[in-house]
Amino acid sequence: MSSLANKQILVGITGGIAAYKTIELVRLLTKAGADVQVVLTEGAKAFVTEMTLQAVSGHPVRSTLLDPSAELGMGHIELAKWADLIIIAPASADFMARYAQGMANDLLTTLCLATEAPVALAPAMNQAMWKHPATQTNLQTLISRDVAIIGPASGAQACGDVGAGRMEEPVDLFKAIEQLLAPIQQDLAGQHWVITAGPTMEAIDPVRYISNHSSGKMGYALAAAAQARGASVTLVSGPTQLDAPQGVKRIEIKSAEDMLSACREAMVKPADVFIGAAAVADFRMKEVASQKMKKTGDSDEMQLTLVKNPDVIATLSQENTAKCMVGFAAETQDVIAYAKSKLERKGLDLIIANDVSRTDIGFNNDENQVTVLSKDQQWTPPKESKSALAIELVELITQYQSTK
Ligand code: PMT
Repeated sequence: MSSLANKQILVGITGGIAAYKTIELVRLLTKAGADVQVVLTEGAKAFVTEMTLQAVSGHPVRSTLLDPSAELGMGHIELAKWADLIIIAPASADFMARYAQGMANDLLTTLCLATEAPVALAPAMNQAMWKHPATQTNLQTLISRDVAIIGPASGAQACGDVGAGRMEEPVDLFKAIEQLLAPIQQDLAGQHWVITAGPTMEAIDPVRYISNHSSGKMGYALAAAAQARGASVTLVSGPTQLDAPQGVKRIEIKSAEDMLSACREAMVKPADVFIGAAAVADFRMKEVASQKMKKTGDSDEMQLTLVKNPDVIATLSQENTAKCMVGFAAETQDVIAYAKSKLERKGLDLIIANDVSRTDIGFNNDENQVTVLSKDQQWTPPKESKSALAIELVELITQYQSTK
């Protein structure tokens, strides 16, 4: 039986030539046993008819927010609660803009705002509209709110242009929906994962410090992904703006030395997996000034004496505190070569190479793209949201563990 059997799926269709393909998506979903209701925007009605979608879904199709007869059957808030998943295919640039702004000016945006179910978008638009900074900013906003983005694909477009902006094919959307609704296995139950995240902060004096741009998003996403699969997770975190993921034990630290002690304490009994996603300062002040440092004399220069911090992950690796040690390598050049040398030097099983010279991924972005390296293999998952990537990384690490 398909994992979609008896799932309640709300399919939203916005105005775009790809709307005709969504009829096939609705057919695939209903064939798999899902209960599907369709909502059209005004724009969508120029491309597909209510009659067709009613026939393939087996339900009346809705399109207006203030429709007394439809509200009599199922009010819009009830419809938002009814859905196990909302998928908007195609999602136009206009819809993405309105959804990113939190508008509720038609039935579909209202449902997206009122639902607590996961929402997925399959964008489809002209390639220049897709590339436009306004659309890309809206996309980032939606990704940061955990909206799943499927596609778009690249290729020839209905308008004659070539580029990214084609809606993914119905069969690929179907597979993505199956994945989104698949029950998460609890196969990591009984395992302890220790994950570091965020920056360290090395005091200079009572008001100043040395730190970096890590937001903690990557490490926190990994903690949430491992926890969702049943692992008991300890997150050793430098200062961030993030809430601890539900069910994860967070230990807050500031300096690299604090991080090392907290990790050692968490791994008195060896952990199953250690992931060093934190951006740890390599140096700290030789002596932290006890009072705020003052400008002295006429000199335009100032010298601080720094000493080396412990290498947290290399130390833990030497002490055999985890059965599987995974590091990150934040590099700005020769990414793979430098990552490989860190894999060996720090005694790691896997290293996740992150090109932090790119402004669209890495530090403080919602998306990331990495290459995972073992001694003799490498994998490069696609660029995606840090939460989606974390799910893939936890899977890769789990598969690697089973071959050790
Ligand atoms: O936090 P985000 O904004 O989401 O950004 C994610 C990230 C870019 C911070 C993350 O993906 C990343 O690349 N983390 C590693 C950053 C880093 O410090 O890389 P590195 O190449 O300097 O260090 C290599 C490894 O050694 C890392 O696992 C690091 O945690 C560890 N290390 C480094 C120095 C040190 N003194 N102790 C360590 O344990």
